[in-house]
Amino acid sequence: MKIAHTFAELDAALKDMRRDGASLGFVPTMGALHSGHLSLLETTRSKAEKVTVSIFVNPTQFGPKEDYRVYPRVPEKDCELLEREGVALVFLPTAEQMYPAGSPLVTVDPGPVGNEFEGRSRPGHFRGVLTVVAKLLHLVQPNVAVFGQKDAQQLFLIRRMVADLNFPVEIVESATVREADGLAMSSRNAYLKAAERHKATVLYRALSEGKRLFESGLRSLDDIHAAMREAARSVEEFELDYATAVGESDFVEKDPLPQEARLIIAGKLGSVRLIDNLPLRMG
Ligand code: PAJ
Repeated sequence: MKIAHTFAELDAALKDMRRDGASLGFVPTMGALHSGHLSLLETTRSKAEKVTVSIFVNPTQFGPKEDYRVYPRVPEKDCELLEREGVALVFLPTAEQMYPAGSPLVTVDPGPVGNEFEGRSRPGHFRGVLTVVAKLLHLVQPNVAVFGQKDAQQLFLIRRMVADLNFPVEIVESATVREADGLAMSSRNAYLKAAERHKATVLYRALSEGKRLFESGLRSLDDIHAAMREAARSVEEFELDYATAVGESDFVEKDPLPQEARLIIAGKLGSVRLIDNLPLRMG
């Protein structure tokens, strides 16, 4: 496995990998890898011959009061794991390499969906995400790039960026990996105190309640809203940010719910912000 820190090292390694015409799969991450990330590798291997992973804690997608400084960074451990997984190349740039002039002056505008839900609570977040993903896709030029459904709004916006701006890459999604009790795996789960850990299942329980009602025929957004909010109240310390449903095709709230929709939820448990979602299908 090769590890590239600079653009020059990345270019040289990619040239080598492409020499025999192999197809390239790419998985961008911020590291502190868990089984959710590893499942993306499996999806990538089914779509491409060689896999590149980037590990970069991207400063421009964190707000000034967010956890950029303390975000878990364990690059050696991550690289050991990736080597065992048969990854061909890891791109591990510094912030100075990615942003030599400090914050970029020209960025990707995520459009109106970028200001809703996660974007409402985290102003500038999706501009930072789309800008770094655009840079990484240009640097690596993969055939396929894989993203998790865990971050559904991020995935939606990346798909739209790639479609609207004609990026020559196929975006593939990979299902959310959960702990046995339903909690979606996340690098941020490491912040949860022992007493908070089992309370964190509140997101999955609220989603499951919404899904149960949908499957029993309920289509009213207000009713699904209310049921999820009620379920979220079962944990006193959980500070709900939003619990709602959006259409799969446009990530916009619809009442009644359309054929293909997604329940989304986010909130804070203590100081830890958690998000989750579940797809809803008719029939
Ligand atoms: P990060 O949070 O490290 O996630 C990297 C990828 O792993 C994303 O596509 C995310 O959706 C996926 N992922 C995380 N937890 C998952 C789980 N439990 N099941 C399935 N997939 C999961 O998302 C980012 O990094 C950044 O915003 C990035 C896209 C790298 C841009 O900086």
